[in-house]
Amino acid sequence: MRLSRIITLIHGVVLWSLTTIHGQINYEESLAGSHPLPDPLRFEDGTAVGSAVEWTGRRRHELLRLFEDCVYGVFPPRPRMQDFRIVRRIPNALDGLETRLDIALWISPDGESPVLRFTAWLPADADGPVPAFAGVHLFDTSRDFPSPAVGITSESAQGEKALWAGMETGRAILRQGFALISLDIDALAPDGEKRYRTGALSQLRAQTALEAGRPESGALGVWAWGLARVVDYAETDPHLDGRKVIAMGHSRMGKAALWAAANDQRIAMVISNNSGCGGAALSRRNFGESPAHICRVFPYWFSSRFSDYSPHPETLPVDQHQLLALTAPRPVYVASASEDRWADPKGEYLSLFHAQPVYHLLGVKSQLPQEWEPVAHAHQGPLGYHLRNGAHNLTTTDWKHFLNFASGYFRP
Ligand code: GCU
Repeated sequence: MRLSRIITLIHGVVLWSLTTIHGQINYEESLAGSHPLPDPLRFEDGTAVGSAVEWTGRRRHELLRLFEDCVYGVFPPRPRMQDFRIVRRIPNALDGLETRLDIALWISPDGESPVLRFTAWLPADADGPVPAFAGVHLFDTSRDFPSPAVGITSESAQGEKALWAGMETGRAILRQGFALISLDIDALAPDGEKRYRTGALSQLRAQTALEAGRPESGALGVWAWGLARVVDYAETDPHLDGRKVIAMGHSRMGKAALWAAANDQRIAMVISNNSGCGGAALSRRNFGESPAHICRVFPYWFSSRFSDYSPHPETLPVDQHQLLALTAPRPVYVASASEDRWADPKGEYLSLFHAQPVYHLLGVKSQLPQEWEPVAHAHQGPLGYHLRNGAHNLTTTDWKHFLNFASGYFRP
């Protein structure tokens, strides 16, 4: 059986069980609804945002706070103390193509366990500091080679051929002069309702009290915080260019990458692959996974208040196009897959489309077409999008587009 067929089948079974447990999920475009979207360029009191200064100085903060309160919880602060240590270094790995570093971050002087572990693959022959793709669980760090095109959770179902493709993709990325960085989630925030607080959040809580009445970060926010810490690290490592860190992620980690870029303006570019509900997809569209479904199955990814709104997403004061707009004027890329209806590819595209007014205000001339259907090719900027044929996955084809897009901005 072909690989893509196997992936489609597995995804189909998961979706079938979710539908059975949680009731009907809409896949009819005519029933997707047409709730008006909140305007990124209007303050909450109804007045218009008239200038770039008003956006950057006030509206941006207003929106960030609304996203914290209503969707993701308060973005955890930068720790008072950070001790990054290289715990393993393998020079000349991958036939001399790269150097592998395993890095850990401690944030308290009393020897508690690290709050973050990540692996960096640096191109061996780079002349100066290089740009980097950084993602949570971007590839399997237990292997000796990076295999970023292989969906980690379904890796065993994909076999050697896919692993080989992933490894070739890793080589291609390094050869083009980009570093690859993958964050492990176990120290940071394990992906489970009872465990996600056991990592960074528990140590951060001991350091800084949450402002009264505000909701704590869910797991997505802690993963996103990890990406911000990687930028801290990149600013100190002379092999990496801290001004060219690209946050990227697939699926739930695509949601985290978007939230990271919204909060940390040092992140130079963000790429979300098949990120769906709570990521790039509009919450107000009734198509595929809805906020109500995601809050039932993964409530701990979000602020506890998200579930107050989730039965009626049209009551949310924000929607996800405003999340993408929070990255402006930095480049953002959204990728969808044609069979990934659960993630609502059209909703992902419309979100990007409706983020444009903020980019325009900040002087970025993006002209995406309003129609989504004919988009069979990639839009390579300034806002990037492609709709790949096939199922929910991060593939070599996706990476080719991402590499093209990133090279246009950051050719090393
Ligand atoms: C589930 C979840 C999605 C998420 C995906 C993933 O399908 O409902 O919201 O994006 O898992 O992360 O693989």
